[in-house]
Amino acid sequence: MNSSASADPFAARRAAFPGTERHIYLDVAARGLISVGVRGAIDSYLDHRMMEGGDKAWMFSLAEESRQRFAGLIGADADEVSLTKNVSEGINAFGTALPWQAGDNVVVCQALEHPANIFPWQNLALQRGIAVKVVPPVGGRVPLDRVIAAIDARTRLVTVSSVSFAPGFRFPLAELTRQCRPRGVRVLVDAAQSVGILETDVRALDVDALAASTQKGLLGLYGSGFLYVRRDVAEDLAPIYLSRPGVRIAAEHEAAAGTPDAFAYAFGARRFDVGNFNFVGAVAVRQSIGEIGAIGTRAIEARVCGLARRLAEGLHETGLPVFGGPDCPDQAHIVAIGEHLSEEHDAVGDAFLLALNARLEAAHVRHTIRRGMLRLSLHLYNNEDDVDRVIEVARSFMASKSRRPAKVGT
Ligand SMILES: Cc1ncc(COP(=O)(O)O)c(C=O)c1O
Repeated sequence: MNSSASADPFAARRAAFPGTERHIYLDVAARGLISVGVRGAIDSYLDHRMMEGGDKAWMFSLAEESRQRFAGLIGADADEVSLTKNVSEGINAFGTALPWQAGDNVVVCQALEHPANIFPWQNLALQRGIAVKVVPPVGGRVPLDRVIAAIDARTRLVTVSSVSFAPGFRFPLAELTRQCRPRGVRVLVDAAQSVGILETDVRALDVDALAASTQKGLLGLYGSGFLYVRRDVAEDLAPIYLSRPGVRIAAEHEAAAGTPDAFAYAFGARRFDVGNFNFVGAVAVRQSIGEIGAIGTRAIEARVCGLARRLAEGLHETGLPVFGGPDCPDQAHIVAIGEHLSEEHDAVGDAFLLALNARLEAAHVRHTIRRGMLRLSLHLYNNEDDVDRVIEVARSFMASKSRRPAKVGT
């Protein structure tokens, strides 16, 4: 590594992600790359399990540290964080624990939410008679004013993604909570697409709950996630699933039954912990959050969003249709190429975009097709070279096409 690389924390970090040598990896919105540090932490854990069988107290202490690190990353206390499997589990745990009455409602912009934040509410509509009030999107965005206008006397919850999985715009959470708080309406955030990349301070945002998984911006593994629930909110909730970790017991051993007929829920969001943890997932994210924290999400957000802006501008200059234009204020780290959001999750019907997709794949650009568009997404391991090489591929693609973007979609 040269001296300029060592002076630049991002260049030093990139060197810890060997996947960046093989691909132009612009796919954190699907899953992030794993660092050598994370791989090393997983290896040590597996070595320990293989050779020693496993020390339960040590394993629990690692899981506990992952909880503490995630809490630190989002400005919460450890008691406000539960270890989950993924976003879906966090949303279901919180949603089913709310004290719904039949006829209560939840407000959601279904057209822009991931299924993880749709089906839990449809299920509660079936099982508990709540209503799902659907707000239509405007220009690929969740319209704050319409969300507020949809709130009525029976609204208990608004749920929204901090950044949509496609086209990837950022939602004004603090403004939402400012309006919901006086109305007594809770706010739940699906932070799958933002946490670990964008600065997230749950106190400043004043959200009631936030669900995350660890394979995207947190640079960990699948099957591991976190649920934040603000302490005062969590203390009033009764979890649907309950097992030993969700119960307050004086005994040290995690399998001790305590006094089953007079139990109390564990403090705060800990009541949502269920059974033994995904220790390997916890080990991975404990390490990756440490690495993210060494740079800090404020710096990561500035860097990554700056790269995304450079990418959007460069692609726009080639004549490609960048969804929302090259300089929209709510763009974060995701750039979508295409003009229309389609209903299909992972298909694109447009021949022009399919050809561009093939050209990008041939150039080792890792990205995904989402909602009829090509989605490029960045994290701390990306750099200007990645961006400029993609723009170069796009430029040569456009030069080889007689068809201009005005005809995209025809
Ligand atoms: C906004 C959003 N929510 C949730 C998920 C995933 O949910 P889960 O972690 O439950 O699989 C994704 C992507 O996989 C997503 O983009």
